[in-house]
Parts: sequence; structure tokens; C-alpha cells
Amino acid sequence: MRLDKFIGHATDLTRSQIHQLIRQGAVAINHETARKAAQHIHTDDVVTVNSEVVQPLGVRYFMLNKPTGYVCANHDGEHPTVLDLLNEPNKSNLQIVGRLDIDTTGLVLLTDDGQWNHQVTSPRRECSKIYRVTTANAIDAHTADQFSKGLLLHGEKKPTQPAELQLLTSHSALLTIHEGKYHQIKRMFAAVGNQVVALHRERIGEILLDADLQPGEYRSLTAPEIASV
Ligand code: URA
Repeated sequence: MRLDKFIGHATDLTRSQIHQLIRQGAVAINHETARKAAQHIHTDDVVTVNSEVVQPLGVRYFMLNKPTGYVCANHDGEHPTVLDLLNEPNKSNLQIVGRLDIDTTGLVLLTDDGQWNHQVTSPRRECSKIYRVTTANAIDAHTADQFSKGLLLHGEKKPTQPAELQLLTSHSALLTIHEGKYHQIKRMFAAVGNQVVALHRERIGEILLDADLQPGEYRSLTAPEIASV
């Protein structure tokens, strides 16, 4: 990889800042001052900027406990984004794996591994997602049956795939779905005459939201979590 690309990938420095630092002699490769932005870097080379080692950025995988009020987008003119909660370099490389609405809380996965993102979100793999749902009205005794059979949502041509509803209280339940249509859970409850007042994602596939993460906190995924997909 080119020297300027390597530094750009691993830090928040812009291309022009990197070029300027190279011109100033602030960048070194294996303790030798680097002179050319296009110089090739090998995997065992040690690159420093102002004597600080630049750690090569591997592929990253994070779980975040999303609070309300944050949007799952890389940029938004109006609201803070989930990326604002991460203290990481080069956040623009990160992809949000399956989005949540602004008022939904809980598990959000982020990665710069596009293939992994695709594996989690691909409809063909049917990766299950578990949500804790709180509703405005008591959940009707027939709702679990209706969800397990599939419902035709407003504006859709095909019914929803079978989903499993497990009642927790009169107004709350765990709902497992195997797809991710726009506002799916809110629309499913609307279709049976109820309304979602709070929605929290607890699990994606085998990856469970870490109970130690407070709203707004995040951590790297473990190797088994990454491999579970
Ligand atoms: N279904 C919804 O309606 N909203 C979400 O954020 C996720 C699933």
C-alpha cells in the first residue's frame, strides 16, 4: 500500500495534511525519513508520524448500545449519528449493519468488512433479530398467531415471514423476526391495531447486546462473535 494511503486509512489526517507532513520530514519508515507519498509500505514496516507509531488499521467490528435520538446513518444534517458515539479513527469507513429507527434503542453492529455486513443482512441467510417491544395497548391473544402466519403490511406485495412473539407482560413482548423491512415491527403492530411505544434490539443472530454496555457505549466484537455469523 502507498505510504499516504496507509496513513490516511489508519488516522484522521487528510490527504493534504499527510503530504505536508511528508514534505516537512515528519514521517518516517523504519526510522528513515520518508520523502515520497507514493512510497510502498510492506506489512512489517514501522511508520511514524512525528515519532508516533501509526498502528495499521485491521478490519474492525463493533457492537454499540444505541440510545434514542441518534440516527443510523454516516451523515445527517439534523440529528447526531451513531458514528458520533465512537472514538475511532477513520469512522467514515465504517458501515452500519442493519439500521434502527431514531427512537429505537439497543444493539447496532458496525464494521468496515463489507462481506461480513452482507452476511448479516442478506435476506437469504435470514439472520434472526430479537427485539423487546412495548406497546400502547394490551397485546391481543391472537397477535402471536397472526405474526407466526405472516401479515401483509401496507404497501407490500408479500406477507411478512413467520415471526415469533413471546409475551412478557400485557404490554410487552420479545419478538423474533428474520427479515428487515422498513419500520417492520412498528408496521406489524399497526397492522393488528396496536402501537409500538418502545423498541429495543437485544440480539442479532448469536450476538447478544452486552449487558455491561450503557446506552451510548460500545466495544469490539470478540472473535467468536465475529465468527458466529
Ligand atoms: N422495526 C422497526 O419498526 N423499527 C426498528 O428500528 C427496527 C425494526
